[in-house]
Amino acid sequence: MKPTLRWLGIALGFGLLLLAGFAVFVAARGVPHYAVPVVAAPTLTNTPAQVELGEHLVRASCAECHLNKQTNRLSGHQLLDTPTEFGALYSSNITQSQQHGIGAWTDAEIAVLLRTGVGRDGRYRLIMPHYTYLSDDDLAAILTFLHSDRPWVRADPTPSRAQQPSFLLKALTNTVMKPTPLLASTARPVAASSPVAYGRYLVVGRYLCYECHSKDFKSNNALEPEKSAGYLGGGNLLLDQQGQPIRSANITGTGIGGWSPAQLAATLRFGQGPHGPVRYPMPKYSAMTDAEVQAIYAYLQSVPRLPAVK
Ligand code: HEC
Ligand code: HEC
Repeated sequence: MKPTLRWLGIALGFGLLLLAGFAVFVAARGVPHYAVPVVAAPTLTNTPAQVELGEHLVRASCAECHLNKQTNRLSGHQLLDTPTEFGALYSSNITQSQQHGIGAWTDAEIAVLLRTGVGRDGRYRLIMPHYTYLSDDDLAAILTFLHSDRPWVRADPTPSRAQQPSFLLKALTNTVMKPTPLLASTARPVAASSPVAYGRYLVVGRYLCYECHSKDFKSNNALEPEKSAGYLGGGNLLLDQQGQPIRSANITGTGIGGWSPAQLAATLRFGQGPHGPVRYPMPKYSAMTDAEVQAIYAYLQSVPRLPAVK
């Protein structure tokens, strides 16, 4: 045997041994637990305006995954548009039920989960997005809505189902899918009077557009979103409702530079793009305000243009 080949054989054997060790480790460890960061309880002013804003945000950001069409509550359901290789996954009951929902969670515990992905029991929550840059005001609005008397959040007795993550997903949570550290401050509100800055906030903080619209979830950078590979240049491989692959669009100037604000508004609100329907999983932000659309428009026109991806 050629010496180089022998070395290769040894290296390979060693690699396999490591791999086997890793497999045993993952199987034994499962989805990891972490220390739960301690944060101050968010301040809720509980005004009607805060409930309205909270509803606006939950409708746009949480309902897609948590709204159960049978109960018409945020009581959770099986997620059918996650890759089958991840196993069977269920969104949780986040209604006010003490036993089956999150009625027993403190606001600080919910805040930590939303920002970092770590639950009150320390278990890393699967699939749930991390709202790293969500402003304290927006977070308070979401919490206020979750405590309100609106039908979606009333206590519902549907139990949250236990996740059945595949080996692959467990392995990913032991390697690349990690909690996001808390930022030193998220207090600073972004002035809606500065469209580009407000638009950036909407794209990276409030609606997480960049997560789907950059190159790959795996190379996204939650702490420095602009450093995500192919920032807003599209090409991220997602799944449609039939489980078929679909790539996200380039939303830098290369992709939508020639659009009018009205065309962007119709796309975001109704999924009506200038070239035809915009398909799932692009969300429909039906309640997006004019100020939001205009700010997103201004920001997207300002980001570095990336080449079209195919
Ligand atoms: C892409 C889908 C998705 C979106 C969007 C989403 N969630 Fe979740 N959420 C999940 C899944 C899946 C779980 C369960 C994860 C697990 O148990 O590992 C979960 C868990 C939770 C939990 C923990 C409940 C528990 O009992 O462990 C809370 C609270 C929560 N989500 C709130 C929200 C809020 C508020 C929003 C919007 C700001 C939101 N989620 C957006 C998918 C999503
Ligand atoms: C869950 C993933 C996801 C999120 C979140 C998301 N998008 Fe999309 N978006 C897509 C996909 C996938 C497409 C391509 C749809 C198609 O080809 O029919 C798309 C298409 C678009 C288009 C149409 C582009 C074209 O050339 O036709 C625009 C504009 C757009 N998204 C903007 C946004 C903005 C702005 C946000 C945040 C407010 C956002 N998207 C959030 C997945 C997402």
